[in-house]
Amino acid sequence: MLNIALPKGRLGESVLKRFKEAGYVFPELEDGDRRLVIPSENGNASFFLVKPTDVPVYVEYGVADVGVAGKDVLIESGADVYELIDLGLGKCRLAVAAKNDFRDDQDRLLRVATKYPNVSKAYFSGLNRDIEIVTLNGSIELAPILGLTDVIVDIVETGKTLKENGLSVINDVVNISARLIANKAASKFKQAEVSALVKALGEVIK
Ligand code: PRP
Repeated sequence: MLNIALPKGRLGESVLKRFKEAGYVFPELEDGDRRLVIPSENGNASFFLVKPTDVPVYVEYGVADVGVAGKDVLIESGADVYELIDLGLGKCRLAVAAKNDFRDDQDRLLRVATKYPNVSKAYFSGLNRDIEIVTLNGSIELAPILGLTDVIVDIVETGKTLKENGLSVINDVVNISARLIANKAASKFKQAEVSALVKALGEVIK
């Protein structure tokens, strides 16, 4: 049996649908069900529902054999796991954005608000731009509006949030989508089960 860490929330719902189509069926939960470990209907898997940012942790430590995480979460975590397939879900991009009238002054330290401090540091370091990171956990778009930072590094999906707040993209950082990841040891010891999952998901994606 495979232990699978799945992200709760918006992405989780579309991921569960994909797993169901691939034969890993998760029973419908009754309202108020607070269980966090759920066996699949035919006993081929056990699902753990965790915060999206925690998926790589469960997989790296091997309590989950595989998991699903956004590429953003994956690169920010730096987790030592295998990335198996792109599930083609949760497509969006990570971008640098600022107020529409923002002009960068290269002589000044650039203040950056983000939920992704590691990715942001690496990105600006690649540009030789000195920055100061302000780490926030949500509503990142508020930071430049209120003058907390000059720019943000955040997820852009439809672009609606930026537009409605007088912000625009300055640069793209990386394209994002959900990836199936695996624990390195489990990829060997449960090779048959991991391969069967990859094959079943691969067929559904096609
Ligand atoms: C994400 C992201 C942006 C928004 C982008 O926020 O941080 O704010 O979605 O989507 P859009 O381009 O389609 O407008 P989320 O809804 O996850 O909430 P958060 O503010 O708590 O991060």
